[in-house]
Amino acid sequence: MELKKNISLKEFNTFGIDVKADIFIEISSLDEMLVFLANYKKDFYNLPLLILGGGSNILFTKNFEGIVLKINTKGIDIINEDNEYIFIKAYSGEVWESFVDYCVDKAWAGIENLALIPGNIGSCPVQNIGAYGVEVKDVIYELEAVNINSGELKVFQNKMCNFGYRNSIFKNELKNQYIIHSVVFKLNKKPVFNIKYDAIKDELKAMDVITPNIKAISKAIGAIRRRKLPDTHLLGNAGSFFKNPTVSSAFFEELKVKHPNIIGYKLSESEYKLAAAYLIEACGWKGIRVGECGVHDKQALVIVNYGNAKGKDIADLAWKIKDSVYKKFNVNIEPEVNVL
Ligand code: EPU
Repeated sequence: MELKKNISLKEFNTFGIDVKADIFIEISSLDEMLVFLANYKKDFYNLPLLILGGGSNILFTKNFEGIVLKINTKGIDIINEDNEYIFIKAYSGEVWESFVDYCVDKAWAGIENLALIPGNIGSCPVQNIGAYGVEVKDVIYELEAVNINSGELKVFQNKMCNFGYRNSIFKNELKNQYIIHSVVFKLNKKPVFNIKYDAIKDELKAMDVITPNIKAISKAIGAIRRRKLPDTHLLGNAGSFFKNPTVSSAFFEELKVKHPNIIGYKLSESEYKLAAAYLIEACGWKGIRVGECGVHDKQALVIVNYGNAKGKDIADLAWKIKDSVYKKFNVNIEPEVNVL
């Protein structure tokens, strides 16, 4: 466990924002984490603490005046299996994309639709990552997390995590109270594919796949994502900047009268989820560049850093987008990205 001072965070956030952290500590094992927590209050007088995984869902608008704890605990273990399921534990510092590739390679099904999502294992439950009809909550069996105050390691069964759309207990009641240490996934040896999205069906057709398998689905998802979403290694971004907002069915009907092309998905008799990308595109933002940042030309939900944007430039652009959507549609869009 090495302590570094006044470190640039540019390579630790996928937006590529060049801010500094007063103190940067990398944690590579549970023991290191427990030693750090036992001494945190004494050694650091309770300085603000930021738990950092892959840095793929964060926008830094200023230097971090505190301790950045980069979780880098690695490992993948099979902890149980039967004829149907495999229970596989991955530690927080594993890279999500590599974990998906590993499971796809073994033909363990359940996360192939989540291929190529940036980030690490430790953050996937916090915001319940999702794409193409699958959310990670569908395959999380349980997870272990360490209480920052007491150092106690606690097991959270799936139900205890209160998962919702891009949401969990770790973003609400337990915010900043726990560090995820490992996640156990229950994957299927006899797969049931989730290919109800037209985009996946069309891609499989274009690939001449008649009987889909896990590899083909993950390849199709990869192709769709590469077309629509910028590669964080080439163009700084954090995936969708905003969440898709929920509105009442009655309000959706009103919107539909004024904006017949609006895109909404029925959630229940009383609620619809709107495609925020449509709202942003309809306000004219798609492909617009403002200085060093802009709205991606292939997916209006994604804000990109062309190279030298400051976090504040990106946040200013995001708030302008939010304002214009509110003015045109009377709908509030909220960031998915954590703005610091
Ligand atoms: N659309 C537009 N303009 C655009 C892009 C999309 O009008 O520029 C329309 C599309 O035609 C479509 C609808 O908006 O009818 C939804 O688009 P898409 O299927 O691309 O999905 P999304 O709702 O924009 C969500 C997730 C993505 C995930 C995709 C695929 C959120 C906030 N985002 O985007 O997740 O990859 O579905 O399932 O829920 C992320 O969280 O970082 C992320 C990329």
